[in-house]
Order: sequence, then C-alpha cells, then structure tokens
Amino acid sequence: MKKSPSPLLLPLLAAALMLVGCGQKSEAPASGSAAAPADKKKLTVGLVQTGAEGAWRTANSNSMRDEAAKRGITLKLSDGQSKQENQLAAVRSFIAQGVDAIVIAPIVETGWDPVLTDAKKAKIPVVIMDRMVKVADQSLYVAFVGSDFAAEGRMAADWLAKNAGGRTKIVELQGEPGSSAANDRQTAFAAALKDHPEFKIIDSQTGNFRQAEGKQVMESLLKKHGKEIQIVYSHNDDMALGAIQAIEEAGFKPGKDILIVSVDAIEAALKAIVAGKMNVSVECNPLFGPKIYDTVEKILKGESVPKSSANKDQVFDATNAAAALPTRKY
Ligand code: AHR
Repeated sequence: MKKSPSPLLLPLLAAALMLVGCGQKSEAPASGSAAAPADKKKLTVGLVQTGAEGAWRTANSNSMRDEAAKRGITLKLSDGQSKQENQLAAVRSFIAQGVDAIVIAPIVETGWDPVLTDAKKAKIPVVIMDRMVKVADQSLYVAFVGSDFAAEGRMAADWLAKNAGGRTKIVELQGEPGSSAANDRQTAFAAALKDHPEFKIIDSQTGNFRQAEGKQVMESLLKKHGKEIQIVYSHNDDMALGAIQAIEEAGFKPGKDILIVSVDAIEAALKAIVAGKMNVSVECNPLFGPKIYDTVEKILKGESVPKSSANKDQVFDATNAAAALPTRKY
C-alpha cells in the first residue's frame, strides 16, 4: 500500500515543487516554440472611449475589442457617455487598477493635464487615440494615433471647389463642440475656402455627431434659410444622414437641390452616394485597433514610436463609392 507523506514534510515538498516550477519557468523557450506565448506577460489595456454617438464609434470600439482578443490582451473598456468627467474618472480608475497602458479617445481637447500627470507619475504610458488633446507638457502622453482631421476638412473643401457646379451657399453641421474632430474640420475647411471666395458659410450649428440631432438642426436651418441653402457640410456621416431625412421631408432632393458633403465614409454614406443622395464623404477610418496595439506593445517593450501617426484616408464620391461598397467593413 502506498504510504502518504508525513504532514510535517508537506511544506518542504511544496517548497521543492515550487522550485521545480521556477526552474522550468526561467528556461528560455525555443524560438517559435509553442511554449513562447505562455511565457509572455498578458497585457491589460484600459480604453477610455467617448460614448456611443454613432456608427463610426461602434466600429472603432469593435476594432479595439477584436484586435485585443486576437493578441490575448485584456481590454478594459470604459464608455465616457459623452461626458469628459466620466472619462477623467475612468483614467483615475485605470491608474488605481495598475493597468499596463491607457488609451484615451478624448471627447474634448482641453482639461487633461491633471489626470495625464497622475498617469505619468504612476509610470503608465498613455496613447491618445482618434481625437487630440491640448496639453501644456507634450510628455504627458507618449503617442497620438488617429486621422488628420484638418486634412479631412481641406479634402472636403477641395472637392467642393471642383464639383459644386455654381452652388456657393453652405450650412455647416458641426460635431461635438470642443472636440479636435469638430475644431479641425471646421477651421481647415473654412481656411481652404479662403482660396475660393465665391463660397459662403451662411450658418453653422452643432449636431453633436449624432444622426437625430443632425436631423433636428437641419430642420431648423431649413426653416430659417429655406431655398437659400445650396450645400451642407457635415462633420460626420451620421449627422449628414439625419440632414438628408430633414431635406427630403422638407420636399427637397438631397444630392441634387442641396449638395451633401460629409466625413467618415461609413457604409451607409457610401450607399447614400450610390443612391445619389449624398455627394461626397471624406474617409475617417475607425478600424485602427491593430495600429494602436502595435504602438502600445512597442512602448511597453521600450521601443521608440512616432509622437504622432496619421491614418491614411481617401475621398469617396460617385466615381468610386459603388466599387468600395462590397468590401466596406464599417
Ligand atoms: O472623432 C472622430 C469622429 O467621432 C467621427 O468622425 C465621428 O463620426 C465620431 O463620432
């Protein structure tokens, strides 16, 4: 019969087993062997999102989730629900939890210095995603990855300059006030139109990047300006799609009576272009989860990363929207 060890020997046996375990762990796995991933420390990333304003944001969050799952990264996602105070609290909570890195999509540009200082003191690297921050000390974040919103505003203006066909009077639907996406798209668009003084922005109001608000704002703009409106410049597709509904309900033809110029190039916008209801959408690609985690992983390995890295975006109009639709993933 097998004799069980004396209870007095049990702690010694346990210690011996632990030593064996440690010995195995310290052995470097053969390169490319199946043992390599198990030895890799599993990263935890805290993602501070803006909210659920529309299709773009959903696609962006999904890209971050899917890529984290592929890489075996634990992603903790906090939804800011369109309030900066929620985002600030989420950053503080991630610092307290000791995550490996924090990724922030800031709703607005300002007000970040104190929490970013806390993250820096806690030695947790911060990557700014999608929208930019304005901080006094640039070392408070390690890198920015996102689209060049100013370039998007310029591309929208350039398209108009070539394709407006004599229409000149513009109403602008702005995105979330204080966001770099709205600020840069507005400023760059207006600046680019200075070279084309025939164009006039006759009104500019916010629809907060949301379809329902875009519709409401367009309804009131139509009541105020009526037939004077010849062009809508919308800071995103969700608002543009809302504006299209309002224009149709008012008895006008979007895309013909009123040109619709927008940003994002989501699938619904490409369909609207194919249907002749939208004229152009400047892409702002949200599917950059892989690029974000490449950046985070490099930072955590001590490798250098660019301070700012812009996604490549293109313009979609009647010449190329139909061809792009079958492979559009957002
Ligand atoms: O910050 C990017 C903008 O935010 C997208 O253009 C918009 O659709 C989203 O809500």
